Amino acid sequence: MNFLHYPVMNKEIVNILAGSSKGLFIDCTLGMGGHSYYILKNIKNSKVIAIDVDDESIEQAKINLKEFSDRVTFFRFNYVDLFKKIDLFNKRVSGILIDPGISMFQLRSEKRGFSHNIDSYLDMRKDKTQKLTAYDVINSFKEDQLIKIFEGYGEVKKAKELAKAIIEKRLFGCIKTTFELKKIIERIYGNRLKKGQVHPAAKVFQALRIFVNRELEGVENFLKEIPNYLNSRAKIFFLTYHSIEDRLVKKKFNFLEGEMKVRILKPFPMFPSEAEIIKNPTSKSAKLRVAEII
Ligand SMILES: C[S@@+](CC[C@H](N)C(=O)[O-])C[C@H]1O[C@@H](n2cnc3c(N)ncnc32)[C@H](O)[C@@H]1O
Repeated sequence: MNFLHYPVMNKEIVNILAGSSKGLFIDCTLGMGGHSYYILKNIKNSKVIAIDVDDESIEQAKINLKEFSDRVTFFRFNYVDLFKKIDLFNKRVSGILIDPGISMFQLRSEKRGFSHNIDSYLDMRKDKTQKLTAYDVINSFKEDQLIKIFEGYGEVKKAKELAKAIIEKRLFGCIKTTFELKKIIERIYGNRLKKGQVHPAAKVFQALRIFVNRELEGVENFLKEIPNYLNSRAKIFFLTYHSIEDRLVKKKFNFLEGEMKVRILKPFPMFPSEAEIIKNPTSKSAKLRVAEII
């Protein structure tokens, strides 16, 4: 089976879920179906509710999960709306996973504009039914709005300079592609990378992607709602890939523990093993936080 996207820390998740046979697992960010696959394969009689905003990803995941088609149900919506969309009353849920961001399938797409390494139209929408694209942001937002996005969602240095350069470039025509934007970024930060250094465009693209897809909107409220809708002993798994999101999850888990609604299962986040990082270098920045509903 070729997933294109290796499911990060899937062994750790399956180990924590071991013993919850027959349980219902909610995969809030299905992607290529990697985590769902390992859960369906390793947890006997388990069933999965599989959610994604991206219809292309759902179609791919359906192929990857074909052998389990009688144990998985697919939905296309934003997971923060889960409790409005699906009635989980009286369902015995073993776990819920949020693994946000984008998959390798999306990152490597030549049409979707997520990667600074692929020349493509500046789109960056996961949900293709939404209107706002990265092109709109780059070509119509004011300087102070751009600065706020770059600093707030990418902790980008010299954000003011970058926003200014974008506005100046706009005077001579629209910035249409990922490579046009990358060129502006490289003019400010340079393009000579030291070994192991991340390209300066990575943080700018991350910031744009988070903003365009409203990735942090509603997440805190969603985490707060989980214990009101799911049964006791259900595990909440949250994988994060950048510090802004991890701080948010840590804060919310601590709050819920203070309210006696969850028990944090590991005092510190879990990290991928060396072996996993070698197999899947993009897992390097991942952190897994786990809590159990009381
Ligand atoms: C990192 S990938 C998940 C990979 C998946 N766990 C796997 O192993 O194949 C993130 C996926 O979540 C989806 N996604 C991100 N935010 C979402 C949201 N708010 N609601 C639903 N799906 C979302 C993306 O479209 C993408 O397919």
